[in-house]
Amino acid sequence: MAAAVAIFSFAFVLLFPLVAQSQQVEFIYTGFNGSETNIITTEGATIIKPSGALRLTNLSHNVAGHAFYHKPIQMIDTNYSFNTSFVFAIVPPSSGEGGYGLAFILSPSTKFPGAQPGHYLGIFNEANNGNASNHIFAVEFDTVKGFKEPSDSEGNHVGVNINGMTSKYTRPASYFVGSDESNADEMQLESVDRIQAWIEYDGLQKVVKVTISPASKPKPTIPLISKNINLTPVLEEMMYVGFSAATGNKSSSHYILGWSFSQKGEAPPLNISLLPLPLPREKNPSSFKPFTAVIASLSVFTFILLGLLFFLTLYRKLAHHESLEEWELDCPHRFRYRDLYAATKGFKQSEVIGVGGFGAVYKGILLTTTGSELAVKKIMRSSTQGTREFAAEIESLGRLRHKNLVNLQGWCKHKNDLLIVYDYVPNGSLDSLIFKPKNNRVLPWDTRFNILKGVACGLLYLHEEWEQVVIHRDVKSSNVLIDAEMNARLGDFGLARLYDHEKPSHTTNVVGTIGYIAPELARTGKVSTSSDVFAYGMLLLEVAAGRRPIDSSSFVLIDHVMECHQMGTVREAVDPKLNSIYVIDEVELVLELGLLCSHHRPEARPTMRQVTRYLSRDDPLPAINDWGSVDSQSFSEMNSRMLLEAVSSNTITSASGNFSTTSIDTGR
Ligand SMILES: *[C@@H]1O[C@H](CO)[C@@H](O)[C@H](O)[C@H]1NC(C)=O
Ligand SMILES: *[C@@H]1O[C@H](CO)[C@@H](O)[C@H](O)[C@H]1NC(C)=O
Ligand SMILES: *[C@@H]1O[C@H](CO)[C@@H](O)[C@H](O)[C@H]1NC(C)=O
Ligand SMILES: *[C@@H]1O[C@H](CO)[C@@H](O)[C@H](O)[C@H]1NC(C)=O
Ligand SMILES: *[C@@H]1O[C@H](CO)[C@@H](O)[C@H](O)[C@H]1NC(C)=O
Ligand SMILES: *[C@@H]1O[C@H](CO)[C@@H](O)[C@H](O)[C@H]1NC(C)=O
Ligand SMILES: *[C@@H]1O[C@H](CO)[C@@H](O)[C@H](O)[C@H]1NC(C)=O
Repeated sequence: MAAAVAIFSFAFVLLFPLVAQSQQVEFIYTGFNGSETNIITTEGATIIKPSGALRLTNLSHNVAGHAFYHKPIQMIDTNYSFNTSFVFAIVPPSSGEGGYGLAFILSPSTKFPGAQPGHYLGIFNEANNGNASNHIFAVEFDTVKGFKEPSDSEGNHVGVNINGMTSKYTRPASYFVGSDESNADEMQLESVDRIQAWIEYDGLQKVVKVTISPASKPKPTIPLISKNINLTPVLEEMMYVGFSAATGNKSSSHYILGWSFSQKGEAPPLNISLLPLPLPREKNPSSFKPFTAVIASLSVFTFILLGLLFFLTLYRKLAHHESLEEWELDCPHRFRYRDLYAATKGFKQSEVIGVGGFGAVYKGILLTTTGSELAVKKIMRSSTQGTREFAAEIESLGRLRHKNLVNLQGWCKHKNDLLIVYDYVPNGSLDSLIFKPKNNRVLPWDTRFNILKGVACGLLYLHEEWEQVVIHRDVKSSNVLIDAEMNARLGDFGLARLYDHEKPSHTTNVVGTIGYIAPELARTGKVSTSSDVFAYGMLLLEVAAGRRPIDSSSFVLIDHVMECHQMGTVREAVDPKLNSIYVIDEVELVLELGLLCSHHRPEARPTMRQVTRYLSRDDPLPAINDWGSVDSQSFSEMNSRMLLEAVSSNTITSASGNFSTTSIDTGR
């Protein structure tokens, strides 16, 4: 009986500060209680919740919160060595992304006058950031893409900081499984899940070690960060130890659920099962009676149920609201893996709508919003190398917005997979509409012409109208998707560049698809806007003729069209499936422009701006005889020779093996 009472008071009090008699401090908090005087909290939204959780910030924007052990600790005695362990949780809003982070800090003071929230985590500000007179050591758990590019360019990272927010060392949040340093499991700092961290400093060897793992797992044997850092010049003799957290434009609630610290051995182990949960949960601190317990648990249950209902309603509202905001802000979005997982029914095979060199494309229905449809491209990656560049690239591509591009909605990283989320485009690819139409429905000429104009507008935007030049590198009919209004949307732009980040050594990687690769690209591997124009020219010919640029019977479309043109029988090159229902002027324009764009000499090709002017007949197409100095016979020979070279060349074959089938072939 006495034992039972002891256990329960143990469970409900949840707190045992032990201060050693000597100068060496050791303490452990298994949760915090409201009347705790040994923890000082300052500022903002920092409170101790009834559950025993210490909440540093709530979901308000641009707030900071601090909590410290109540008195400064003498550090010089132990050559500044210490060990500490704590369990934290970063809870994002119930919808959308949260933001900013949490840090364990050693600081000469508990006050941070002028400190800024957001990236400065409530510790520093623009003026004193990095100043050696700060004497602050911090280990940050940051969820937002970095402070001052490119140092912390990845969100969801752990960083070791001295006197400022530019981390000396950072690692993506992860932990090593077993004793295998190549086997790291990634973690989402920002999830409701509790995470345990260990920070150890050995003042003799001058080594800082930081380790994290899910709270349910034992301490990993290999630290995430283990670096030689001398804290002697950084720290002062007496230091406060504690935490700082902040929110910015984005916000999450930051909780500390348990904490131990020691200067005379390992940090006392935290019994995870005794720690509070991050989300508010009623606790009944009265003495234990079975009846009260039943009532209490019933009311807790009802409370949770009601809370759940409330959250669900709120969630939907917020989620809806957020998707509107997202469009307005024109801002790419980091998706949550679990949302994408649910949207694609767990990446089920039946949801695959296309398979390409980069990986499979799944159709998804986002359950958290009004059920908007999306296409999720799952890129399987063998290594985590280049992830930062990947993310940065995607963030940048995500800002491209044009009515003739497949909008990139966002991305998500999960373990070694990268997921890229696009608008779902219902009518599939141009390739399938021309070559594999449903019910043999022939794509009429006016639609084809309109699609070609759309592709030209999309390419013009990529080449000339955005803040930087984006070379598509894989223009082809299977990358042209057709929306519900039968407008063209160019997909997969810029992805080839991502591929380069993966394999930085292969500088001469030729990417593209056989038949669309410009001759100079095959020769030198150098991409340019005019190699995109070449591929666009092939697309023009393909759409008008209803035939692929080259096929297995060594048919070369450009030669065929050139021949027809020279014989004055250009109509023979037109897709017979059109049944002569077309505007002859338009078809001729498309075929001739196709020949011009696919000129073997890049300088002879028009720019995409000129192409759009020719297509809208703002400018007349130059007569075929004026095309540079080459006569059309050698022009045609040159092209087919280049194409055949391209086909036989090893590099291209292997590269196109990776890229040629990238498409979103949707059914409907
Ligand atoms: C909180 O913890 C302190 C120290 O253990 C204890 O004295 C106090 O009674 C506790 N308060 C509550 C409300 O449990
Ligand atoms: C966060 O806490 C502050 C201070 O207690 C309060 O004014 C604010 O309304 C809270 N915000 C939210 C979103 O709960
Ligand atoms: C601190 O370091 C000095 C040598 O740098 C060593 O002699 C001393 O024993 C150390 N003190 C402690 C408490 O470890
Ligand atoms: C660093 O801070 C100190 C004290 O606030 C100040 O006197 C000094 O000018 C600062 N140094 C720099 C480089 O800003
Ligand atoms: C926060 O949002 C405001 C308005 O949306 C914007 O002007 C400001 O630059 C943002 N600040 C940061 C640090 O992103
Ligand atoms: C920290 O823990 C290690 C064992 O993990 C121990 O060797 C070391 O002495 C401890 N440091 C302090 C200051 O207690
Ligand atoms: C953690 O606490 C639970 C509940 O009091 C207890 O049963 C368990 O033995 C404890 N675990 C450790 C490792 O102390």
